[in-house]
Amino acid sequence: MRKQIAAANWKMNLTLQQGEELLDAIISKPHSLQPHQQAVFAVPFPYLFMAQQKLSGKQNVFVAAQNCYSKKSGAYTGEVSVEMLQSLNIPYVVIGHSERREYFQESNQLLADKVTICLENKIQPIFCCGEPLQIREANTQNEYVAKQLAESLYHLSAEQLQQVVIAYEPIWAIGTGKTASSAQAQEMHAFIRAQLSAKYGASVADAISILYGGSVKAANAVEIFGQPDVDGGLVGGASLVADEFVAIINALK
Ligand code: PGA
Repeated sequence: MRKQIAAANWKMNLTLQQGEELLDAIISKPHSLQPHQQAVFAVPFPYLFMAQQKLSGKQNVFVAAQNCYSKKSGAYTGEVSVEMLQSLNIPYVVIGHSERREYFQESNQLLADKVTICLENKIQPIFCCGEPLQIREANTQNEYVAKQLAESLYHLSAEQLQQVVIAYEPIWAIGTGKTASSAQAQEMHAFIRAQLSAKYGASVADAISILYGGSVKAANAVEIFGQPDVDGGLVGGASLVADEFVAIINALK
């Protein structure tokens, strides 16, 4: 079975103390992760070490960074390299979140470089894609997402691609309380898998986890995660509330 992942994206929220309390609260609640299931916490850079310490030894629980730079090292004040993340044993990094694309002008080409440097350093990218509202209204979301995939991922070998986790996050559903319906999510996830299959073959496409993101909460997680091509979620707001996120972990199939 494909890996099923509940990934928390804290974004730029919480103080160190609040982050510690949240992780403590989540750890202390009963949740059961089967071998094919994972909980991932994408925390702000200054909290990576704390989260790594707190979650060490917890089975199937991992820490992720929310971003990295595309260059190996050097005079890039304020940036964080993949080598730095690797030295902390961080296994995942979120790449190309729509907020990075929108507020920091991250292009498909830059994201291709980030994906490459992650894979060269054995860190798995959680690669985000998804369309804005006007594209959904024009019903051209498939072409839009296909272009994101092609321009940022299709330079990879099949072996490399299998290390990538994809997160489909329709921008109109992020932080808006407006979730895509489970049918809309399934439709796009099946489309993404079909695109990957056409380029890399069915067995590669079948092995790739595709997460849904955009207003996932405890109340809708079971239905969304229950769709055949949805392999868990990337969760913003609801990941900041211990009970909510534990219920989301428990909604993994
Ligand atoms: P949200 O954010 O769950 O608050 O909509 C999801 C995300 O941006 O990853």
